[in-house]
Amino acid sequence: MTIHICAKEGEIAETVLLPGDPYRARWAAETFLTDARLVNEVRGMLGFTGTWKGHPVTIHGSGMGMPSLSIYANELIKDYGAKTLIRIGSCGGMQDKVKVRDVILAMTASSLSTPSAGIFKEFRFAPSADYGLLRAAADAAENKGVSTHVGGIYSSDVFYDERPDLNEQMMRHGILGVEMEAAELYNLAARYGRRALAVLTVSDHLITGEALPSDQREKSFGDMVEIALEAAFA
Ligand code: ADE
Repeated sequence: MTIHICAKEGEIAETVLLPGDPYRARWAAETFLTDARLVNEVRGMLGFTGTWKGHPVTIHGSGMGMPSLSIYANELIKDYGAKTLIRIGSCGGMQDKVKVRDVILAMTASSLSTPSAGIFKEFRFAPSADYGLLRAAADAAENKGVSTHVGGIYSSDVFYDERPDLNEQMMRHGILGVEMEAAELYNLAARYGRRALAVLTVSDHLITGEALPSDQREKSFGDMVEIALEAAFA
């Protein structure tokens, strides 16, 4: 047990999928895992462990934003030995070619700051995905026929962003989408020698203002879960 996770030793798998929303963790576990059982519910942050095609898998909520994700990823890595951590979540599209419902595989995650800024100090670390996971996820997405983009994303500290000038610079530099967690997940994976990837569905668009209706989010979320599982065990 840790401060934020009440799972017993051995109840967390080496492969962990991290949706932001704990209810999404429950839906994904009930939909895709065999024999999924609840292993954490501290503060309502649900985590489930089961198997996928015989492989042990945990699906655990990360909460929203890098400070929240950092708590769960730190404990999953350092206390439970998680080795492969894949964020599955939503993002806002930042390029014309990126459409709502498309999938983005985050090769790198830029940011203004992360919870790791205090230890990096003046060093500008470049958080990046595990190449093997990224390549396997790209293959899985292509096999599923999902419209997919691979490239840089922006991990923001705010959802209600009042810096349109900054978004413009991001877009100018080819950033595909904005979300709020991947950069710190990649920092932690690098620090502890683990594999990490963020698989994201475009749920809204900063240029067009379009947003995916809530009844269509489940299908896109399911595609992401399958892409993540196939990448983890490729
Ligand atoms: N997640 C989904 N859409 C987002 C947006 N527009 N900004 C930040 N995080 C997001």
